[in-house]
Amino acid sequence: MWFGNRILSTTQLSKMSIVVAIVLALLTTNNGVEGQQGKIGSFEYMAMSCRSHSASLTDFGGVGDGRTSNTKAFQAAMNSLSRFSSSGGSLLFVPPGKWLTGSFSLISHFTLYLHKDAVLLASQNENDWPIIKQLPSYGKGKNGEIGRFRSLIYGTNLNDVIITGDMGTINGQGDIWWKKSKSLRYTRPCLIELVYSTNVQISRLNLLNSPSWNIHPVYSSNIIIQGLRIIAPINSPNTDGIDPDSCTNIKIEDCFIVSGDDCVSLKSGWDQYGIAFGMPTKQVIIRRLTCSSPQQAVITLGSEMSGGIEDVRVEDIVTTNTKSGVRIKTTVGRGGFVKDIYFRRMNMKYMRHVLLMTGDYSTHADHGYDHKAFPLVHNINYRDIVAQSVRMTAQLDGISGHPFTGMCFSNVTVSLSAIAEKVQWNCLDVSGVSSGVVPKACGLLSDQQKTTCYFPNDVLPIEKVVLKKCYV
Ligand SMILES: *[C@@H]1O[C@H](CO)[C@@H](O)[C@H](O)[C@H]1NC(C)=O
Repeated sequence: MWFGNRILSTTQLSKMSIVVAIVLALLTTNNGVEGQQGKIGSFEYMAMSCRSHSASLTDFGGVGDGRTSNTKAFQAAMNSLSRFSSSGGSLLFVPPGKWLTGSFSLISHFTLYLHKDAVLLASQNENDWPIIKQLPSYGKGKNGEIGRFRSLIYGTNLNDVIITGDMGTINGQGDIWWKKSKSLRYTRPCLIELVYSTNVQISRLNLLNSPSWNIHPVYSSNIIIQGLRIIAPINSPNTDGIDPDSCTNIKIEDCFIVSGDDCVSLKSGWDQYGIAFGMPTKQVIIRRLTCSSPQQAVITLGSEMSGGIEDVRVEDIVTTNTKSGVRIKTTVGRGGFVKDIYFRRMNMKYMRHVLLMTGDYSTHADHGYDHKAFPLVHNINYRDIVAQSVRMTAQLDGISGHPFTGMCFSNVTVSLSAIAEKVQWNCLDVSGVSSGVVPKACGLLSDQQKTTCYFPNDVLPIEKVVLKKCYV
């Protein structure tokens, strides 16, 4: 282009290579400057706890060219920074750049901070993902797999761990995993998983194209998840947004999620494994969630709920283009419970079902499940719900002989799409009340004028955790 249409002579070409060499040399020098930029500037951020030490990924040999693996740099950073865990903790800064990495694990009293132009690129090489055991409350993978790939960012037995940034990006590059999802011997990895951890914050990040679930906190407590933008193709398999699993005291706030599976799914273990482990998910707040899930639901409870799910408060939800609104899934053999669940102020548009409950979601870990382990579903409350362009308002199926009880629906206004079903409420083996519901609820939900379904107004412990302004 520079030379127009001229045909270059050999001398010109060799002159050109000298020019190229000089340009390259200059670029290399510039790389040195880039290295300087890898240093941490000063910035402020909000966190559960601030840190007294900070370092940049480049201090540990990190290279942000999108090609060099940074798995070792991350692990070296953790090894080095762990020495500050008892003296104010540490922050690892990920500078602008594309940082290719395999799975790595975090440490306690630690903050991973992504600059707004930092992109963590997940390796597409299976060897960069260690295989770990299935969780004890599950026993097996969905298709009987005995092991699973460790998540990209992993932590176990941690206290005080923060993953945040200035809307930096974690790109799971999940397409290769989605393609081979059926042929894998181990369960696909999550993007972020924290197990047996407490005081966790995950905030202000872009999460893209996770191989499977985006965020999976398990057997953990005191968790704040805030200000995330989670995006995966709407046909990508199992790319759930946030799946708290046997967790206590958790707040999910101000998140935007578009994905191929549920935006948020609460879980607590599977059949006899989950019953034996016996750890519920409880004290959950989900608020100001914007969601689109054309294949699945805005919020799902279950189907793995064998340790129980209780005290869940959901409010101020906006959705468009979602298959279902709230979905409760369970089956005989699960045991456990789903109780004291509260929804209010949901505004939804373009959907198949607003409310779905099924007592026959029959996927089992194996044949060893207890055929007499009946789940309890009780005290489920929905109020101040508006949904537009809906095909069917509610399909509620309890379990014969073990009905779902204490359902409450008040001030629910559903307007139908042009292709709506004739029957809008289909109920079996459920009981409860309704009030101010349009279209009118089924006969099993007796119409009680002027009932307002309950929504708790006490304050959960996680609400008392105030983020501090921290400076680097
Ligand atoms: C019914 O719900 C709508 C939508 O949330 C709300 O604007 C309205 O105030 C509610 N009505 C009553 C009587 O609470």
